[in-house]
Amino acid sequence: MKKNVMRLSLLLLVLFAIFSTLPETTSARMPGGIYYRDTGKLEHVLFSHSVHASYGNTCTDCHTKIFQMRIGRADFRNAMTMKTMEEGKFCGACHNGEVAFSVKNDCDQCHFK
Ligand code: HEC
Ligand code: HEC
Ligand code: HEC
Repeated sequence: MKKNVMRLSLLLLVLFAIFSTLPETTSARMPGGIYYRDTGKLEHVLFSHSVHASYGNTCTDCHTKIFQMRIGRADFRNAMTMKTMEEGKFCGACHNGEVAFSVKNDCDQCHFK
């Protein structure tokens, strides 16, 4: 009987160890820096997942209503420009001066790399 209890708690321990690593696996799937280089004479743009997460944005705030989970998809056929962002698309869905600093100002907050 005692042996069974031991076995059971060992099993629970192993299961706990496995499940407690799952959240890390999820955040590992969140990519690091994404560069946008179609910026003319201005500096390139660096989008950081971890910075956005630190401001409280969750995956579903952006995926998939604003951005597909695929680097470069937003700019397919040059769709992502300052003009479309000023109209509220892509980064401009939040960077509108209400949710976050606006694409119409603060150029070098985004164009810095
Ligand atoms: C503030 C917006 C935002 C948030 C929040 C966000 N992402 Fe993203 N994600 C992006 C952008 C922008 C891209 C690039 C899309 C593009 O270039 O078309 C991207 C791309 C991706 C990709 C594609 C990577 C590749 O190699 O193609 C994955 C996977 C991804 N995100 C996962 C996540 C996960 C998981 C979370 C939550 C933990 C998350 N994202 C939260 C904006 C966001
Ligand atoms: C879901 C909303 C959302 C989207 C979409 C989004 N951002 Fe942001 N971003 C934020 C918020 C909120 C902050 C915090 C700053 C603020 O409140 O003004 C922020 C901050 C930033 C910062 C400042 C980081 C720092 O070091 O403080 C940069 C740069 C930035 N975003 C770039 C981008 C770019 C580039 C895109 C598009 C590829 C994008 N963001 C799309 C919400 C968003
Ligand atoms: C929220 C982040 C953000 C801010 C703020 C921002 N930009 Fe951009 N900008 C981008 C992104 C993302 C691209 C797209 C780059 C790509 O497609 O590779 C871009 C592209 C551009 C381009 C080349 C494409 C085009 O539309 O002509 C120019 C020029 C440009 N930005 C100028 C500016 C100026 C000027 C300001 C300030 C008034 C500004 N940007 C503010 C993120 C930003």
